[in-house]
Amino acid sequence: MIRPEGSRKRPPWIVRVLQTARRRLRMSAPAEPAAREATQYPGVFGRIHRNDTMVPGFSPEALAHYQAVGSEACALVEQALRRTGRALGDVRSLLDFGCGYGRVLRMLAQRMDPAKIAAFEVDPRAPAFCAAEFGVQALGINKAWDWAAVPFGQYDVIWAGSIFTHLNEADFRSTLALLSGRLNPGGLLVFTTHGQEALRRTPTAGGARLAALVPRIWTELDQRGFCFLPYEPDELEHILPFPYPAGRQFGATWVNESYVRAAAHEASMGRLEFLAFQPQAWDNLQDAFTFRRRAA
Ligand SMILES: C[S@@+](CC[C@H](N)C(=O)[O-])C[C@H]1O[C@@H](n2cnc3c(N)ncnc32)[C@H](O)[C@@H]1O
Repeated sequence: MIRPEGSRKRPPWIVRVLQTARRRLRMSAPAEPAAREATQYPGVFGRIHRNDTMVPGFSPEALAHYQAVGSEACALVEQALRRTGRALGDVRSLLDFGCGYGRVLRMLAQRMDPAKIAAFEVDPRAPAFCAAEFGVQALGINKAWDWAAVPFGQYDVIWAGSIFTHLNEADFRSTLALLSGRLNPGGLLVFTTHGQEALRRTPTAGGARLAALVPRIWTELDQRGFCFLPYEPDELEHILPFPYPAGRQFGATWVNESYVRAAAHEASMGRLEFLAFQPQAWDNLQDAFTFRRRAA
């Protein structure tokens, strides 16, 4: 997976062996008391859960990078708010959609009242961890993968970091529709995607299978503005720390600006107004989009 946190400088085969070992430990271990599931590292706000696959390592440099990427996400949200004359202090409700184990939440929770933040994840363990660790509200999805049953509220801001980077075309569009419907009038949707820079890095950072497919991905990106390649089961096992109910609906996704703008317009039935496209704005890798929900 191309992730905005970069990766440790280990040979790929060592990374794979370590990931498999970690994965087997997680899957086979009985549920542990919360205290042992997470570790406090010096200089990090809140503990880091052992399932947090966004952590690039535990050296001081790696942890600093993890936090810097979280802070950059906050800066993107703050920039979006400034475009509409607001600041984080004005936000009554914020949803971190696909929050993982709090890479961004832990930074947001230091900048605004955590009680105003909702943490949604499809990973069954993540929302409860984020709620307990950072004081945010937990939102999960049931085993039936029933999105209509998720008790989402209405939000002034929705942040979705590295979610649209992994969705197939149907889910990309239905997620845009879902989120546009969950914004208050004037509310902001800020999310990241893989675009040209991510694709340029795929030959070196995306693994051998994706590297071989790069010419096809460029072609689809040029012709349609969208390319999705599902992860193989063994890849998925290393990428998500839980059995993924939607199987091959999760993969690597590349898009261009015009595709996203058209998809947002169509999926929201014209309710989303485009405000900004910022190439490579997250960790110098992922592109960022900002849309505003029209008042009527
Ligand atoms: C690359 S991680 C990003 C996590 C977090 N946003 C961050 O930046 O640290 C992608 C996340 O998307 C979640 N996810 C998978 N399928 C999803 C879906 N259909 N809708 C929303 N989130 C999903 C995964 O559980 C995973 O935590």
